[in-house]
Amino acid sequence: MKILEVKNLVRDFGGLRAVDHLNLDMDEGQILGLIGPNGAGKSTVFNCIAGVYPPTSGEIRFSGVSVHGEKPWTLCRRGLARTFQIVKPFSSKTVLYNVMVGSFARTDRPAEAERRAMDVLRFLKLDHLHDTKAGNLTIAHRKRLEIARALATEPRMLLLDEVMAGLRPTEVDEMVKIIQQLRERGITIFIIEHIMRAIMALSDWIVVIHFGRKISEGVPAQVAADENVIKAYLGDEYVVS
Ligand SMILES: Nc1ncnc2c1ncn2[C@@H]1O[C@H](COP(=O)(O)OP(=O)(O)O)[C@@H](O)[C@H]1O
Ligand SMILES: [Mg+2]
Repeated sequence: MKILEVKNLVRDFGGLRAVDHLNLDMDEGQILGLIGPNGAGKSTVFNCIAGVYPPTSGEIRFSGVSVHGEKPWTLCRRGLARTFQIVKPFSSKTVLYNVMVGSFARTDRPAEAERRAMDVLRFLKLDHLHDTKAGNLTIAHRKRLEIARALATEPRMLLLDEVMAGLRPTEVDEMVKIIQQLRERGITIFIIEHIMRAIMALSDWIVVIHFGRKISEGVPAQVAADENVIKAYLGDEYVVS
């Protein structure tokens, strides 16, 4: 069974069609990359899947069940978690507190929530910062905190929206390793990323969208050589490193 099926997804904002009849699906354990120029509709696809915006039309199925109109917290309990492109921690609260908010999706007991949150922080090598206020973290640490908060909800599937933006090359390499380890733990990963070498290294399959429409898909090498993709990116300040 497919863990995710997106069928003919359309999302309009007033007169603007941000997502235009998009079809894609994912197998459990897969890493799927979603790329496209700025404004292509990538984050909107995630927002529709995660229940932030209802689709204008089309269907989204998670684990074989239609999730139309479900709210983010219901989807989270079903095992779907996401990060936001613009990180939004509770800045005045500690790192541990921020991650415990996620743990409470699975347990009511504060001591257990704290134990699980610390496990996640250790995995992301943030445990030494557990008592730091989230607002005082560096960008790299904030991005990792964003993943920690999502992981604490114990997802089967994780939507990662540009978690590498603003990172240095060595920090990108670390993030690639973290994501590979998440997959080894059995988490299915749907990732939007502008850093080409990262998305190429991670993805089993890549879908390219432009003006909300799928313009190409395939294994990384196929997509990188596709003329449609190169044209869509020409002139864009894309990071190819
Ligand atoms: N909440 C919103 N209200 C109005 N327009 C939006 C909203 N969210 C996104 N858009 C528009 O939809 C298009 C796709 O945006 P987005 O999904 O953020 O693209 P991407 O993530 O690929 O850069 C853009 O033209 C953007 O301005
Ligand atoms: Mg975006």
